[in-house]
Amino acid sequence: MNGRVWSYEDLNAIEAVERECFPVDPWNRRMLAEAFLSGRFFGSLIEEDGVVAAYGGISILDDEAELELIATAEMFRRCGRGKKILDDLVEEARRRGVKRMFLEVRVSNAAAQLMYLKNGFVGIYTRSRYYIDGEDAIVMKKDL
Ligand SMILES: CC(C)(COP(=O)(O)OP(=O)(O)OC[C@H]1O[C@@H](n2cnc3c(N)ncnc32)[C@H](O)[C@@H]1OP(=O)(O)O)[C@@H](O)C(=O)NCCC(=O)NCCS
Repeated sequence: MNGRVWSYEDLNAIEAVERECFPVDPWNRRMLAEAFLSGRFFGSLIEEDGVVAAYGGISILDDEAELELIATAEMFRRCGRGKKILDDLVEEARRRGVKRMFLEVRVSNAAAQLMYLKNGFVGIYTRSRYYIDGEDAIVMKKDL
């Protein structure tokens, strides 16, 4: 299972998986393109038979990175792809001199929280009503 760096041509396929994985607040094509072209972004994805199975991306500013998005298409879950993407992002961040990575996760999203905890992130505080539907976010941090 190999990750590869996003290319601009991947954005439509990523948008389609976003809509499947995040019914409430998926990133749309414009948001993906803006992040991708920002010059501060690094994205990794896994393809299976030409289909985008998992992907994730970080934005880097000085020595801090923000995990912007990460998802595995439903039929490809629980086989290590999410962890592999997270590992790729952390490795690239370290390579670029990043010292801390942050992320937000819904308080109801136990699967993602477990993945982050297992991979060295710790919860640092809660952001009240962070999401568009009013749900709170847990902010998590990993020292790299
Ligand atoms: C979170 C997500 C990316 C995990 O992807 P995945 O490819 O299934 O992840 P992995 O197979 O690498 O699992 C990594 C770890 O996450 C945890 N995990 C993943 N899915 C889980 C579930 N359904 N229940 C409990 N733990 C889960 C486990 O600790 C797992 O390690 P293990 O398999 O050794 O027990 C995936 O569930 C997803 O895309 N969810 C919808 C999008 C989303 O919520 N993204 C995160 C936004 S903050």
